[in-house]
Amino acid sequence: MAEKEVVETSEAQIAVHWAEEEYFHPSKEFIAQANMTDPDVIDRFSLDNFPNCFKEYADILDWYEYWHTTLDTSDAPCWKWFVGGKINACYNCVDRHLPKYKNKTAIHFVPEPLEEGYQHITYQELYVRVNEFAAVLKDVCGLKAGDRVTLHMPMIPELPITMLACARLGVIHSQVFGGFSGRACADRIVDSGSNVLITADAYYRSGTLIDHKQNADIAVDLAAKDGQKVDKVLIWQRYPGKYSAETPMVDGRDYFANDLVKDKYGARVEPERMPAEAPLFLMYTSGTTGKPKGCQHSTGGFLAYTAGTSKYVQDIHPEDVYWCMADIGWITGHSYIVYGPLALAASTVIFEGVPTYPDAGRAWRIAQDLDVNIFHTAPTAIRALRKIGPDEPKKYNYSFKHMTTVGEPIEPAVWRWYYDEVGKGKAAIVDTWWQTETGGFLCSTLPGLNPMKPGSAGPGVPGIHPIIYDDAGEILPQGAGKAGNICIQNPWPGAFQTIWGDRDRYVETYYARYCKDPKSKDWRDWPYLTGDAAVEAPDGYFRILGRIDDVINVSGHRLGTKEIESASLVVEEVAEAAVVPVNHEIKGKVPDLYIALKPGIAATEALEQKINDAVCEQIGKIAKPRKVWIVTDMPKTRSGKIMRRVLGAISNKLDVGDVMTLANPEIVEEIKKMNDESGI
Ligand code: WT7
Repeated sequence: MAEKEVVETSEAQIAVHWAEEEYFHPSKEFIAQANMTDPDVIDRFSLDNFPNCFKEYADILDWYEYWHTTLDTSDAPCWKWFVGGKINACYNCVDRHLPKYKNKTAIHFVPEPLEEGYQHITYQELYVRVNEFAAVLKDVCGLKAGDRVTLHMPMIPELPITMLACARLGVIHSQVFGGFSGRACADRIVDSGSNVLITADAYYRSGTLIDHKQNADIAVDLAAKDGQKVDKVLIWQRYPGKYSAETPMVDGRDYFANDLVKDKYGARVEPERMPAEAPLFLMYTSGTTGKPKGCQHSTGGFLAYTAGTSKYVQDIHPEDVYWCMADIGWITGHSYIVYGPLALAASTVIFEGVPTYPDAGRAWRIAQDLDVNIFHTAPTAIRALRKIGPDEPKKYNYSFKHMTTVGEPIEPAVWRWYYDEVGKGKAAIVDTWWQTETGGFLCSTLPGLNPMKPGSAGPGVPGIHPIIYDDAGEILPQGAGKAGNICIQNPWPGAFQTIWGDRDRYVETYYARYCKDPKSKDWRDWPYLTGDAAVEAPDGYFRILGRIDDVINVSGHRLGTKEIESASLVVEEVAEAAVVPVNHEIKGKVPDLYIALKPGIAATEALEQKINDAVCEQIGKIAKPRKVWIVTDMPKTRSGKIMRRVLGAISNKLDVGDVMTLANPEIVEEIKKMNDESGI
């Protein structure tokens, strides 16, 4: 235990700290049009009114059958929301908007190459395409409610079309971020038990048309080796009618989705009336061990929660043009590019490329061209755009009423640039703190009600009641000025239901630490552990400091240090690996990978490269280490535990503290010297 506490202190040391900031107030113009300006909302969503308060969110949706039980806790801590209710997510995001909005754009697609122009898909077209593809899934693939399908798709409109077609049938989609490797995709195919893979042949990234189909071949082969057979691979063509990948199609296994859809011209598929608590999708995320966790999200609860928070925190109205720059392969994209905005009949923008390509003005031209008025991105993108084009936003004539920052703590200086330059001093900003597991926002200001405070996410959003515990399990009072483990006292409809196929890990990871009675069926006994450290200011605003566990946040993407370590261990020369987060000006954090080789093996640059390649191959380029440090030995405790805290201090050029109790203190100097001499 003592060792664990040391690690946590060091994580807090590495975390960014800054002084309390002044409030910024939303403008009169923003408040005049905001969806939520009623201060009574706080009372309505108080713990006294829990759980019935969430009816307000569920009522934004259309139900086939109303629920009889708002929250069923009989299987604690697997919470069931809106039990007895019947609903279809696709119907709510598409069909029900047709009478009023069939000619309105549902999806603005922005291809990366400038010469391709924009595509505008109306709600009617979305309805047609989703139905036709649902018919393919049903008739050609034989998929039915409850089956899992793995998607490994880039940012093209066919991704939300595929997700919605699955939702129409009650098929559980599991979208794997397009930048992940074939190996990573295979692991997720196996874990979810999918026998259909849906992918695309190619997509653009910074000017290059990337062959993506090759990942499908790797994924299917590796999944088969691990005992999961994929019968069909459906491939959307980036350019319909043309195959843009090099790898051959496999006869009897690979099909062009575009061709299959043609045979379903005019097909309509009745939406399945799904129980509210039926799973809608799986989203894999990193944890403290190498194996990613399949977070299982529900249909009714998830959709109610994302629709409610999209309306009140994102301030989305049907007439808004909303652009969230995240990738749909992450939870942000599922909740706040696809399901939330479409449930509210908004126009949502899907951008294939990167905002800094081909130049620093790209993002602002898109905003100007499409008249985007709600903008949503992560600090890593804001830092990058600020660095390469601090004066670019001024050159363009767009007008944001609202902006979001999400994914990692934002430095007040970066926040101010976002406010002054990107938001032109008039957009309301929300700093939304949440996680893959939580389905939707946990802390944020309500933009029409609360002032903003740079660097602080804000209070719990309606119905979310955060609490901070210290390591001993004592509650830190509001304004204590001390950091602790931030938990949520109550369940909420957006929360994931379990880890796919691993309930024990779900209970252990998220609920065991502060559980008051493991036999209890009362939600009050089961605080949800977020895994973040936070401080609560006297005004009830929470500032998030970063993870307390072995999770590292690179450019807002979540990676397990253990995941990267296990990836490097596939290289046979490697004996031990340790990953530590290093602060980075743009990306927030990047991984440094320390390696000890097996006896008798010499460190070479070629070997460094091989280890580096192995990480990219196993996980994907986003996990690429800043540097592979081959060391003669790892700093270790006498019990043989690698002291990642010490390595982290060296990589971050911080004081390593007292290392005399280590088994091999002399190694610390040697590694430090190596770091100093490298010049990075
Ligand atoms: C972790 C969750 C939520 C969608 C994107 C990331 C960090 C998230 C904030 C924020 C400070 C934040 C936390 C959290 N995080 N939002 N506004 N301020 N930190 O989802 O990949 O599941 O990562 O991201 O550390 O635990 P994720």
